[in-house]
Amino acid sequence: MSQKKPWAGRFSEDTDALMETFSESVSFDWRLYRQDIRGSIAHARMLQAAGVLSEEDFGDIERGLREIESDIERGAFQWSESLEDVHMNIEAELTRRIGDAGKRLHTGRSRNDQVATDMRLYLREGIDRIASAMTGLQRTLVDLAGKEAGTIMPGYTHMQSAQPVTLGHHILAWNEMLDRDYQRLLDCRERVNVSPLGAAALAGTGYPIDRQMTADELGFGGVCANSLDAVSDRDFVIEFGAAAALIMVHLSRIAEELVLWSSEGSGFVELGDAFCTGSSIMPQKKNPDVAELIRGKSGRVSGNLVALLMVMKGQPLAYNRDNQEDKEPLFDSMDTVEAGLRVFSAMFTQVTFHREAMYRAASRGHPTATDLADYLVRKGVPFRDAHGVVARIVDHAARDRLQLEQVPLSVMQQHSDAIGADVYDVLTLEGSVASRNHVGGTAPEQVTIAAENAARRLQERGA
Ligand code: ARG
Repeated sequence: MSQKKPWAGRFSEDTDALMETFSESVSFDWRLYRQDIRGSIAHARMLQAAGVLSEEDFGDIERGLREIESDIERGAFQWSESLEDVHMNIEAELTRRIGDAGKRLHTGRSRNDQVATDMRLYLREGIDRIASAMTGLQRTLVDLAGKEAGTIMPGYTHMQSAQPVTLGHHILAWNEMLDRDYQRLLDCRERVNVSPLGAAALAGTGYPIDRQMTADELGFGGVCANSLDAVSDRDFVIEFGAAAALIMVHLSRIAEELVLWSSEGSGFVELGDAFCTGSSIMPQKKNPDVAELIRGKSGRVSGNLVALLMVMKGQPLAYNRDNQEDKEPLFDSMDTVEAGLRVFSAMFTQVTFHREAMYRAASRGHPTATDLADYLVRKGVPFRDAHGVVARIVDHAARDRLQLEQVPLSVMQQHSDAIGADVYDVLTLEGSVASRNHVGGTAPEQVTIAAENAARRLQERGA
């Protein structure tokens, strides 16, 4: 049977059953119970300090809420759909347990500032967990990068072999993407961490409240400056949704490379058994499912971002029920990103790189052609002319099925008399990568320094 709703005083008819199911949110917002209880205790303590609640009432409220919290934790709490959401479920149960004091809790407050508070507290904790999972993944990657500082692999543009690079350099490129994602999370956290409490329904309240006191107790960095805005905007959820979508897009790009690298065609990498699956029909198969799932799940996190943007679009001030739709996309993005980061770091600890396969692949496709052109420039040939000379030498090598460093000196000299016997020094893969020895370059020496710097930055995070 449907329960009497706390707001139903002026209603003479019961809520339609279809409406009740359509409008309930407790099936998903029950997750906010810890934040809801914490926020309620802070609010009640402030009311007591302001002389609005008696000490006794506050004591009953705090005790009652803590008991409810531990019941929920034990799975001994009966959630009711007809009580709509987490807020009314907890408040109704509090009143059932402690009587009138429970009915006084909602003084000077509305579910509008209450839910905004809960969401900000929940998101703040989630950001902290995700940031620490991010740090974990980055540590794993930076560690790998240091070990692979001298491992030569093909560098690609347009997926065509372009110039040799080092694997450590490639891994550190991933780390840079994730580093910016981490910064974005921290930046978003600043704007999440502001207290809406006291905005009440939309206009504030006539009680002598102390907004700074509740903000301090809840660890907020400040209070929302405008009550209408405080209950209305969910831009802080959207910002997180965007940061989450970008994290997943980055993980998806890395995942795509792992899928390519683990295929028979390249054989650069072998993923650990614990993170792959087999096929029920093809006994030889070992599939890179984690990477594929990350790639696939990036779609839903981007979708969640679009959903959040559309929830906000078209809402006049102040609170509208549309905002209830912010929760499922947010929760889903938080869960997906956190799980994705954790499984990805675990998977990376069991990755084996096949250095010889990478080296062999790096040798194909004349990847040191640019080095030959640069050699000619150093001998006084203008770069555009050098480019033409090398193109003709590459053409010759391709016809004779030779690698550049196998083309005889006499043949090279037919194309340019600036070429001497020392040319072979620059045509090796090792020479090519070692020459790119500047900040941000792929030389093993630079990669070692860059990996050390990155490790130090992670250390300074202290997470
Ligand atoms: N469940 C609602 C939400 O998530 C709580 C706020 C309801 N406020 C209201 N005036 N109906 O937004």
